[in-house]
Amino acid sequence: MKQKFLLLFLAITVLLLATGVQGQHEDIPYQPVTNICQTCTCGSSQVNNRTNFNLDCALQKFEHILARWPAEFGSQAIATVASTEIVATFSGNNIKLLQQLPATNASLTFSCRHCGIQDLQSPLFMDVPNVEALYLSWNELSDDALVPDLFRGPFRNTRYEPIGLRDLDLSHNKIARLDRRLFEHTPHLTSLNLAYNKLTPLDEATTAAVASVVTLERLDLSHNGLKSLPAGLFLKLKNLRTLDVSGNEFTGIPASFQQLGNSLVQLNLAENPFPSLKENSFQGLVSLKRLNISGMPSLRSLEKGALRLPALEQLDCSRNSKLERFELADLLESRHLLELDLSRNALSGLVLNITSSGSSNSTNATGNTEPWSRLRRLNIVGNPWNCNCDLFKTLETLGIAHIERETDGTEARCETPYLLAGSPLSNLTAERICKMVIPKKYREVDEEPPRFLRRRYIILTAIIASVVLVIGLVIGFVVVCVRRRLKGSDYGIQPIRYTSVRGSNLSQISQLQPASVASKFKNVHAESSSGVTTGAANA
Ligand SMILES: *[C@@H]1O[C@H](CO)[C@@H](O)[C@H](O)[C@H]1NC(C)=O
Ligand SMILES: *[C@@H]1O[C@H](CO)[C@@H](O)[C@H](O)[C@H]1NC(C)=O
Ligand SMILES: *[C@@H]1O[C@H](CO)[C@@H](O)[C@H](O)[C@H]1NC(C)=O
Ligand SMILES: *[C@@H]1O[C@H](CO)[C@@H](O)[C@H](O)[C@H]1NC(C)=O
Ligand SMILES: *[C@@H]1O[C@H](CO)[C@@H](O)[C@H](O)[C@H]1NC(C)=O
Ligand SMILES: *[C@@H]1O[C@H](CO)[C@@H](O)[C@H](O)[C@H]1NC(C)=O
Ligand SMILES: *[C@@H]1O[C@H](CO)[C@@H](O)[C@H](O)[C@H]1NC(C)=O
Repeated sequence: MKQKFLLLFLAITVLLLATGVQGQHEDIPYQPVTNICQTCTCGSSQVNNRTNFNLDCALQKFEHILARWPAEFGSQAIATVASTEIVATFSGNNIKLLQQLPATNASLTFSCRHCGIQDLQSPLFMDVPNVEALYLSWNELSDDALVPDLFRGPFRNTRYEPIGLRDLDLSHNKIARLDRRLFEHTPHLTSLNLAYNKLTPLDEATTAAVASVVTLERLDLSHNGLKSLPAGLFLKLKNLRTLDVSGNEFTGIPASFQQLGNSLVQLNLAENPFPSLKENSFQGLVSLKRLNISGMPSLRSLEKGALRLPALEQLDCSRNSKLERFELADLLESRHLLELDLSRNALSGLVLNITSSGSSNSTNATGNTEPWSRLRRLNIVGNPWNCNCDLFKTLETLGIAHIERETDGTEARCETPYLLAGSPLSNLTAERICKMVIPKKYREVDEEPPRFLRRRYIILTAIIASVVLVIGLVIGFVVVCVRRRLKGSDYGIQPIRYTSVRGSNLSQISQLQPASVASKFKNVHAESSSGVTTGAANA
């Protein structure tokens, strides 16, 4: 009996295991589909022979996705290949395990953001070969969840078919590394977003995984704590057009950027701790149209020749709170510049030495006076501008009319000189500034009023102190003189008493003294009497 029970138990175990292996998803329940369109929002639209089905199951407290597509979508949604599209969102539910997606041959865009997904059931897309986009940002995915089998398509003729996935968003997860074969079933992947993960550093397997996606056009590695990029990362990525490495820990431009020379159109380096950008930092990026070097708290200088970008159309060099100098002459090579954002830096002036620049070699005379004829937007708000003639000449070359006022009305203002402090730049012209004579009297006041005030205070104190000292000295001197005089006359009389003991000399001194006093009095009397006599004579 015991053996029979044991056999039965074994058989049941094997059976359970077998079913488990065959269809992992079948032992886990799915969300019931009946009347689903009363809970979720279902919709369909027809555009140019293309049918779009829309399923919105966001914020429903679901723990599972649907096993089938709603009946309302009809059989067309499931069987037809090219002309049908399903857009399904399950965002904001509580789906810990994302199960295999319901079967369809339509192209599918599937989102499950903020779902708390920790695990993915592989293969996810066995019955969805035409999945186009998968958005799984803001989940709890870690390295273990991402295995190559996840993306394998239906099995046909000895191999797994590839899937059509083009757009994959895995940002805001907990991914620290990728399997080197992760993308072997996705030969059409063009956009990969790995922002806000933990890819610090990009290890060899991760590098191999990313480097293997030769079709890649957009790559986002922002906010990963990266300090550098591996040398071979871009070697085969000949189609990469957009690269975002903002919010990392770069202190220098990775040498591997040069491998992107012909393809790269957009580059975001914002919010990295670059201390400076060296000459020829972007050498070879001949197709670069949009560059973002904003929000760098330690950027102090852009060295001459750092921004030589012949195809540049848009430059965001804003919010670099320590940037005091910007080499505008570098941009003379960027003839197609449309937008320039220099707002919120520490710039006080802009110097443009057109005659000394190399690109003045253009054959057109107009090319010199208006090097950026296409410029449409220029933002220079939030800098401590020193409004002088040079600045306005440069701004007129740039096109003063394009200086933007921000949507909230903020506009660029002068900080110095004192006479103009606070006045909006839009209110001034080169003609006026260059003619203006800034009074010397004000100049010192303008530059640093607090220091000046302090200096004046010190000088005043010093003057008062010296006056007090002089007065003190004079009074002291006078007092001493008066005392001397008084004492002097005392001495003249006193010896009479003291020396009276001595005898012989006594009579001499006592006789002499009154004589001298008497002679003095005589003189006075003589003067006054002569005065009287002259007076009498006059009378
Ligand atoms: C729609 O499809 C029909 C045939 O199925 C075709 O004749 C028509 O030109 C298509 N229209 C568009 C806009 O593609
Ligand atoms: C998708 O198309 C294939 C043939 O290309 C077919 O075998 C399969 O059954 C279709 N899938 C669905 C769900 O209709
Ligand atoms: C530059 O990057 C910062 C940070 O990523 C962003 O806020 C800003 O909008 C970007 N500028 C442009 C012009 O896209
Ligand atoms: C401008 O160019 C002239 C001639 O090349 C040179 O002498 C002068 O120093 C330059 N000024 C600045 C500010 O670079
Ligand atoms: C000006 O252009 C000619 C040919 O176009 C070139 O040979 C010369 O070196 C250029 N000069 C400068 C200063 O760039
Ligand atoms: C030179 O000017 C002419 C017309 O004035 C213009 O058509 C041409 O595109 C300009 N060339 C360059 C290189 O700016
Ligand atoms: C500058 O703007 C003020 C108002 O803010 C205005 O009164 C003044 O006339 C303007 N000056 C010039 C030169 O436009």
